[in-house]
Amino acid sequence: MGVWYTFFMIDLAARARMLSCAPKGILAADESNETAEKRLASCGIKVTSQTRRKYRELFLDAPKIEEYLNGVILYKETIAQKDAEGEPFPELLHRRNIMVGIKVDEGVEPLADSPKESITKGLIGLPEALASYKKKYNADFTKWRAVITIDGDTLPTNAALVENARRLASYARMAQDAGLVPIIEPEVLYDGKHSLLRSKEVIQKTLTTVVAALEEGFVDLNSVIIKTSMALSGKDTKRVDTPEEVAVATLEALRAAVPQDIPGIVFLSGGQSEDQALENLKAIHALAKKEPVPWNLTYSYARAIQQEALTAWQCKEENVPAAREAFLARLEKLTQAYGEDEGTCIEL
Ligand code: 13P
Repeated sequence: MGVWYTFFMIDLAARARMLSCAPKGILAADESNETAEKRLASCGIKVTSQTRRKYRELFLDAPKIEEYLNGVILYKETIAQKDAEGEPFPELLHRRNIMVGIKVDEGVEPLADSPKESITKGLIGLPEALASYKKKYNADFTKWRAVITIDGDTLPTNAALVENARRLASYARMAQDAGLVPIIEPEVLYDGKHSLLRSKEVIQKTLTTVVAALEEGFVDLNSVIIKTSMALSGKDTKRVDTPEEVAVATLEALRAAVPQDIPGIVFLSGGQSEDQALENLKAIHALAKKEPVPWNLTYSYARAIQQEALTAWQCKEENVPAAREAFLARLEKLTQAYGEDEGTCIEL
């Protein structure tokens, strides 16, 4: 392995640590056009690329977000767009010392042998796409999401876990080769009637399968970030677990599955309410301080950061200040979830 390659990997590892370093977090502003359209449906207007641009601008142009965010994950349409002053979104973020991420999967399709489950698409042409995001926008990191469904003891099937893990590993290796930190997101869905214990078991098995695939696929564990669900009783049970229960179950699953070489783990909100996602994060940080973990931990939410702002905005220019206020207040609360101390963030 050449000296140049060694430096290249050290740089990636340092970036992975910085990205996952609490109390700051990562904003997932990377909803696909279809999902953004669903989110904007409450505005009651026809959604165009201009509407989506304004929606992104609401967050990306908000003052002082650099005090709360290490990175923002963008969608392919957004990374090529500009704010109202004509500044490209990736440049605007870099100017504010925020790392630029790009979602590179192409969504999911049913798994052939188990159509209630899904497999993530997007490996075809991926090396070229990654090289272009690096060259054109100087992107720092990437994200690929797989979706894992729980149904009693029957789902997830082993086939779904293994194939999704294999694709996550292929993607991660390609991202590292292109000089981008891969976020590996096998989301275990909150939907369902499963127990907290079942959720914990599935998260643990999913992450164990993913880590094995990363090792087999020669992915450098020192420069990946794992994005995971929290262990929760299924949404359809209507049971709201206490934050302490969530923290214990989540950290048990992570300790059992994630080796200490991995620099950082970030959480998605997965359909929890804003306050639930906040309180659970707070309890996870508190427990991880009492019983230290070997990785950085922080949040990478989409809905649990943006929802209140979207409700206040309603796609109207005059509501931008109120919407930004809601957004910044939420970021402030998420930052405070880490607690008072300076932190023991693991950096190089
Ligand atoms: P939520 O926080 O809304 O679950 O989104 C996170 C994410 O990045 C999903 O891919």
